[in-house]
Amino acid sequence: MNRTRTALLAALTLVAGASGTAFAALPGDSAVAAIPCTVDYKVQNQWSTGFTAAVTVTNNGAAKSGWQVKWSYAGNQKVTSAWNAKVTQSGTAVTAANEGYNGQLATGGSVSFGFQGSYSGTNAIPATFTLDGVTCNVDDGGSGGPGGPTDPPPNPSGKVDNPYAGAKGYVNPEWSAKAAAEPGGSRISNQPTGVWLDRIAAINGVNGGMGLRDHLDEALKQKGSGELYIQLVIYNLPGRDCSALASNGELGPTEIDRYKKEYIDPIAAILADPKYASLRIVTTIEIDSLPNLVTNVTPRPTATPNCDVMKANGNYQKGVGYALNKLGDIANVYNYIDAGHHGWLGWDDNFGPSADMFKTAANTEGATVADVHGFIVNTANYSALKEDHFKITDTVNGTSVRQSKWVDWNRYTDELSYAQAMREKLVSIGFDSKIGMLIDTSRNGWGGAKRPTGPGATTSVDTYVDGGRYDRRIHLGNWCNQDGAGLGERPRANPEPGIDAYVWMKPPGESDGASKEIPNNEGKGFDRMCDPTYTGNPRNNNNMSGALPDAPISGHWFSAQFQQLMQNAYPPLS
Ligand code: BGC
Repeated sequence: MNRTRTALLAALTLVAGASGTAFAALPGDSAVAAIPCTVDYKVQNQWSTGFTAAVTVTNNGAAKSGWQVKWSYAGNQKVTSAWNAKVTQSGTAVTAANEGYNGQLATGGSVSFGFQGSYSGTNAIPATFTLDGVTCNVDDGGSGGPGGPTDPPPNPSGKVDNPYAGAKGYVNPEWSAKAAAEPGGSRISNQPTGVWLDRIAAINGVNGGMGLRDHLDEALKQKGSGELYIQLVIYNLPGRDCSALASNGELGPTEIDRYKKEYIDPIAAILADPKYASLRIVTTIEIDSLPNLVTNVTPRPTATPNCDVMKANGNYQKGVGYALNKLGDIANVYNYIDAGHHGWLGWDDNFGPSADMFKTAANTEGATVADVHGFIVNTANYSALKEDHFKITDTVNGTSVRQSKWVDWNRYTDELSYAQAMREKLVSIGFDSKIGMLIDTSRNGWGGAKRPTGPGATTSVDTYVDGGRYDRRIHLGNWCNQDGAGLGERPRANPEPGIDAYVWMKPPGESDGASKEIPNNEGKGFDRMCDPTYTGNPRNNNNMSGALPDAPISGHWFSAQFQQLMQNAYPPLS
């Protein structure tokens, strides 16, 4: 990740490049003469305790036979070694002087040097540089001189705005092999999918499988000379999956210290290895956890005892905050918090309180909102991306679609409208205005022969909605191995305003949970929402589960589901 600060006179137009660096477009040569010198300071690599930087100095004044460049740090940065300049530091003040071999600096000439440094906290780029006592990067003759406006500071974290833009996605070889082994599976086996770190052992690899370093090493190979993003799912909170049983995890409700020391710390140490600094590492943080603390707790009728325990002990917020803080410190890691989906948080009672809950967690255990790059919605869920045949503002015979059984007073009909509204809400309560949303489209295509081609009959609001909706679940609250689902939009960057990417975070073909009790050593329980004969609970308003039969435990390969997802893909597979 490169960070640049080249402060320029007011007359210049600043343009943010795709790489996240700022560069100047010169309106005309006359402007250049007014800047006595420019200093371009780039952080080239950064890890949790150190960084390397490259500095280029351009002299627009009289020719020199020796030079000194000076700056001071706002933070605790210390230069530890340098090349192509003699660098000394006293407190926060740094002086870089020429070596014997590069003292000549002609008018219009440039010289470059580099160094390595240590730091903690924020590694901010110095605001001001001088060359032989003259302030660089500002006009010394015009109105935009010292004190005048300068460029907007580059993203202080050194991260690009959208890690998906202009980058290819990491293809997990383990998922890819399973997909390719299915008849017809090679049509999608080269798609990027999430790598789920769903237990401590996943860091080193389960049963001889790939561990985190193996994935990152492979990602470097796939990257070549371009940009690449790799998607990791951080998923191992104490008391995990408190409202369901299918993805209960290995850590008990109180084991927050193990979560920190045995799970997050080792992951952070690996991700901070400078070897991986060129990768864009997307981390999605703890699927379903914070929304459960809002909707599935006392006094709601949907409360579960385990969610009450997790709400009371605070270990979800602490775990999420700790993960955000540790991982967010790494310059090339992009945290996205899980924000449920419209069929969960789209009601007024849930929407605002969830946004507030995200903010609370993002200010816990040393985290700040600056550690949050965005949010992900619909992870491993089935909510349709866009319902084209009915809108939330439609009425039928004077009755709002919000009063239909399906919508049931929700504010949103689909994931895109929900994600965009949630983004605005989050910005309004203090998250960065540059946050972006991810939408998991791995299984929300709802294509195939049963896909409606137009609106439903206007006999009643229910015939209108039910006849037109793509999402063919029995109830919006159904979440396990949904019968009839298809692959959704293929992963891509910047598909809609506010949306960083459509992603396949849940790898298609991996089960959501077993349809009957299956003993296992993963901590996974049996949730009857995965049993096709189950008649439901308050969280799906006592409807049938809609689950496919004969499913293996969550995360295990489910061939029949994979085949149905391909069959019902929308857009269809060619
Ligand atoms: C499971 C994980 C699995 C993930 C992706 C979750 O429901 O609990 O074990 O890795 O899905 O398939």
